[in-house]
Amino acid sequence: MSARIIMIGCRKGGVTKTTTTVNLSYELSCLGKRVLTLDFDGQGDTTKFFGREDAEFYIGDALLDRKFDITKSIYPAVVDGVESEFLHVIAGRKGDVMTKLDMDMMLLPRREERLKIHLDKVKDNYDFIIIDTNPGTSVLGLNAIMAATEYVFPTEFKEHSLDGVETLLEHIQDVKFVEEDEITFKVLPARIQKSAKRALTYGTEYLKERWPKQTTKTVIWERSLFVEAEFEHNPASVTNKAHVAARYYKDLAKEIINND
Ligand SMILES: Nc1ncnc2c1ncn2[C@@H]1O[C@H](COP(=O)(O)OP(=O)(O)O)[C@@H](O)[C@H]1O
Ligand SMILES: [Mg+2]
Repeated sequence: MSARIIMIGCRKGGVTKTTTTVNLSYELSCLGKRVLTLDFDGQGDTTKFFGREDAEFYIGDALLDRKFDITKSIYPAVVDGVESEFLHVIAGRKGDVMTKLDMDMMLLPRREERLKIHLDKVKDNYDFIIIDTNPGTSVLGLNAIMAATEYVFPTEFKEHSLDGVETLLEHIQDVKFVEEDEITFKVLPARIQKSAKRALTYGTEYLKERWPKQTTKTVIWERSLFVEAEFEHNPASVTNKAHVAARYYKDLAKEIINND
């Protein structure tokens, strides 16, 4: 069985794409799944979480060179100082390097399919491949869309975040040249504040109306544990496994595995 390839995306910054990528990847691996995580965001946050900022090879080496052996750019993720057996990562680079990569790819043949072509070589080794992305439009983003077999859209219950999901979903339809009902995706309510009553009503109603079947049962509530975990460069359940919020992404991982 080849991997389910999940792109984590939203056309809005700061909506927990990286937090979701890191925690979901980790929890899937804890459930015995073989996971490969790709950092396609120009901030390199996922790479930092998994301790691979100094990786010799990064995703650009594969995207620019057909003959590059992509397995050379795959490293075990470092979680709490230990190299993980089931969780691997392909590093991104920060800032200008990713922007330059994007520009370098602009005029290349099959520029949108390059990631897919490379992943075809390793996808049988994994159960899940998770791709973190940035909010904008880019050649890298097109590669992530083309390679993914499904999508997770984290969103807050704010108008701009929900718009960010709509915009990306429309973009995916254009890129893949398909209708919305041909796309496999889940909308994940994330960093939801229990006390923000108006947003809670707005978001709940919006999702119930718009994506009744695609909205996850799991809700990622706003909790300071995630900010703490970010300082430690760790998944939340590693930072404090007894914390109530350590369960959120475990629940999401199970929901995604069971596809319910
Ligand atoms: N459930 C949550 N509760 C509180 N803060 C969160 C939660 N999830 C993420 N955060 C914090 O929100 C900020 C933005 O999250 P991040 O994952 O970096 O977003 P993105 O990758 O979409 O830009 C980070 O500082 C992160 O630690
Ligand atoms: Mg991010």
